[in-house]
Amino acid sequence: MLKILVTGATGNVDQEVLRLLLSQDCDVCAAVRNPKSAKQILGKSIQSVAFDFTNPDTFVNAFKNINKLFLVRPPALANVRKQIAPALNAAKLAGVEHIVFLSILGAERNRFVPHSKIERYIDQLGIKATFLRCSFFMQNLNTTHREDIKTRGELLLPAGKGKTSFIDVRDIAAVAVRTLIEDGHQKRAYALTGGEALTYYEVADIFTSFLGKRVCYNPSLLKFVRQMRSSGLPIDFVLVMVAIYTTARLGLAGNITSDTEQLLNRSPLTIRQYVKDYQQFWL
Ligand SMILES: NC(=O)c1ccc[n+]([C@@H]2O[C@H](COP(=O)([O-])OP(=O)(O)OC[C@H]3O[C@@H](n4cnc5c(N)ncnc54)[C@H](OP(=O)(O)O)[C@@H]3O)[C@@H](O)[C@H]2O)c1
Repeated sequence: MLKILVTGATGNVDQEVLRLLLSQDCDVCAAVRNPKSAKQILGKSIQSVAFDFTNPDTFVNAFKNINKLFLVRPPALANVRKQIAPALNAAKLAGVEHIVFLSILGAERNRFVPHSKIERYIDQLGIKATFLRCSFFMQNLNTTHREDIKTRGELLLPAGKGKTSFIDVRDIAAVAVRTLIEDGHQKRAYALTGGEALTYYEVADIFTSFLGKRVCYNPSLLKFVRQMRSSGLPIDFVLVMVAIYTTARLGLAGNITSDTEQLLNRSPLTIRQYVKDYQQFWL
């Protein structure tokens, strides 16, 4: 039976990938840093194995008998050569046949982002791969931005009037599972976006209409940096976020592709649907 290892298993996309894989005819294993605490998050029905990108002692056991790997780069690991490549070398040595990698929209054009370096490293190793190049996750709004929206009714981020083609991680997970289970997706790259591009003014209006309380968009860069720093986030992380929102401000995050729709045989989930489904996060 096909055995699939899912890295970043407690993360946004992966929890959904694991949930969907459970109903497929395959053997699934969650690669986690801390199997005990992961059990509380993932539940008892998910088999797990200890795995840490920065600890090579965990690699042999984690990759044993694995055919396919769902690869997620933890956001804090930016040094691909030191922090990601050793695990990929171990995967190759263990005979992993196919990697589905959660990448970022435009990775093929920007050689400096870690995702681009990972894509090229996988190709160099000669492991067959599928690259899922995703636009901005809707679920950032119920994680990173949750408290601002919930407590102050404020959507605080420096994206100006730029549009973003938000994608719901539930759609990414559905595509990921399809590309892991089905033949025909190896040596392919998909650009995954939602079906519409919206400004954050429009997003704030959608929140207002669903939550029954006013939510305002504040594009102040200075206030954003101050707020993120005072909530304890490291400066490197805040600067990465500023860079991401600057991309949106410059109008470079609004591209809409048809890959998500074609792979799912339906329209991508809308941000209205997302806010409706997740509204308990902000109430
Ligand atoms: N957010 C977006 O809009 C967006 C858009 C496109 C692409 N992406 C990319 O998607 C990827 C995932 O982002 P995310 O925000 O979804 O991440 P996330 O939810 O924070 O998940 C990160 C996962 O990595 C695990 N992890 C952290 N350090 C690890 C280590 N040393 N070894 C093994 N596992 C480790 C964490 O597990 P623990 O439980 O152990 O902490 C967690 O499960 C990133 O590469 C990001 O750049 C994000």
